[in-house]
Amino acid sequence: MKKGSIIILDFGSQYNQLIARRIREMGVYAEIVPYFTDLEEVKAMEPNGIILSGGPASVYLEDAPTVDPKVYELGIPVLGICYGMQLTTHLLGGEVARADKQEFGKAELIIDKKDSLIFDSIPEKTQVWMSHADHVTKLAPGFEKIAHTDSSVAVVADEARKIYAVQFHPEVTHSVYGKQLLSNFVFNIAKCEKNWRMTNYIEDTVKNIREKVGNKKVILALSGGVDSSVAAVLIHKAIGDQLSCFFIDTGLMRKNEAEKVMEAYGEHFHMNIECINAEERFLSKLKGVSDPEEKRKIIGREFVEIFEEQKKRFKDADFLAQGTIYPDVIESQSVKGPSATIKSHHNVGGLPENMEFELLEPLRELFKDEVRRVGRELGIADHMIDRHPFPGPGLGIRILGEVTKEKADILREADDIFIEELRNEDLYDKVSQAFVVLLPVKSVGVMGDERTYEYTAVLRSADTTDFMTATWSHLPYEFLEKVSNRIINEVDGINRLTYDISSKPPATIEWE
Ligand code: XMP
Repeated sequence: MKKGSIIILDFGSQYNQLIARRIREMGVYAEIVPYFTDLEEVKAMEPNGIILSGGPASVYLEDAPTVDPKVYELGIPVLGICYGMQLTTHLLGGEVARADKQEFGKAELIIDKKDSLIFDSIPEKTQVWMSHADHVTKLAPGFEKIAHTDSSVAVVADEARKIYAVQFHPEVTHSVYGKQLLSNFVFNIAKCEKNWRMTNYIEDTVKNIREKVGNKKVILALSGGVDSSVAAVLIHKAIGDQLSCFFIDTGLMRKNEAEKVMEAYGEHFHMNIECINAEERFLSKLKGVSDPEEKRKIIGREFVEIFEEQKKRFKDADFLAQGTIYPDVIESQSVKGPSATIKSHHNVGGLPENMEFELLEPLRELFKDEVRRVGRELGIADHMIDRHPFPGPGLGIRILGEVTKEKADILREADDIFIEELRNEDLYDKVSQAFVVLLPVKSVGVMGDERTYEYTAVLRSADTTDFMTATWSHLPYEFLEKVSNRIINEVDGINRLTYDISSKPPATIEWE
């Protein structure tokens, strides 16, 4: 299935994951490997095409990351993007220099060679996204300029050798026909076939898990989040009762979280799953602590301790399964150079190094949207798959100041109402992450004829694609009014509600 894929040599551009995702969306497998990966290894993957990615370096500097020039002689089509274009030019005998006029942002691409296969279905003039300080000043022998912008050579090609290079970033959406250009490379030039489908992935992975595990036993800590849940269901499909899962109820989970997880995976999928009730342990350790970092550390430490205890109970297990996904793997690959050791990504969930168990990570090749598709194919309910992210420390960082059971119970009720109303109004899927925060602030109110003195809570809802920057969701006033009425009327302990209208940056999505 992987044969005939596209290999992306990673030179460190922030957009590299996007290249792989765009290609996979087309139904073709794409994999990112560090630029210094041995060429023999690349050849052994039998790719149909190789992409040299962008990156922050300059080709004419000493120690600039480079590639074995034999990559151009394999007979495999090559596409260089940004730094990949400059490197290709440099290695094949052309010249690259710092541009007088650097281009960052939108530019107009003007195609010079309209009949090139790389420009199939792309208009003669189109907007592209540039981000470069260097540019090509002299083409390498055998190359021709096939498109330009007003300040740079934008696309070059040696069509006989099937080597193409573009100065702009086709993988970002600001390059309006960028996806078309990538698709032209993938299908017209590299002649890939569409064979990357989640149904095939499930079949192949189930087979691999069976082969790898044999009749041995596997354990998995299931958090109820998408990654660990999909990993669990996939492994369960492969080896059934040889898999044992445990769910650690920290007491800092959302309303009925443990019940929902047990119902979804224990009852519906008939998995061996045990709920470890650790509320007491977490809350007693958190008693009297109000510093956010200290709280995080306590929660993390306690989690690891319980995890270690659980592992000891499964002496006969040989494998530890984890929901590691592809972005975790890529982020742990170093592109700094062969000397920089490649970090192990075993600890994605903050869990300690593990020597006693062999790891089983059936999702390590998938992006998040692919994990969701696998989850749906496996029959996991939409409401479990499409959930907003929930932080590891849970309500511990949404109860500001000291965490107590009373506060956690109050927050759970309020949060549940907010989420229920978002779902009722079809707003849940339109916002990226929504939740309630409980402040350590009490204020005076009046209910009936009674004076009240209760907590203030905050509704937080953020819109974002990458969670690095975010804006507050412009939820309708009528909706906010309804949520406010319900929470104040139905939740004992809250008599005042506010709406968080801060963007990230400078605020963050969570309050602690
Ligand atoms: P911030 O608050 O930094 O959050 O804007 C960005 C995203 O990360 C999530 N988040 C966490 N997730 N452990 C996690 O697993 C954590 O300690 C943690 N802190 C924040 C947050 O919910 C948001 O999606």
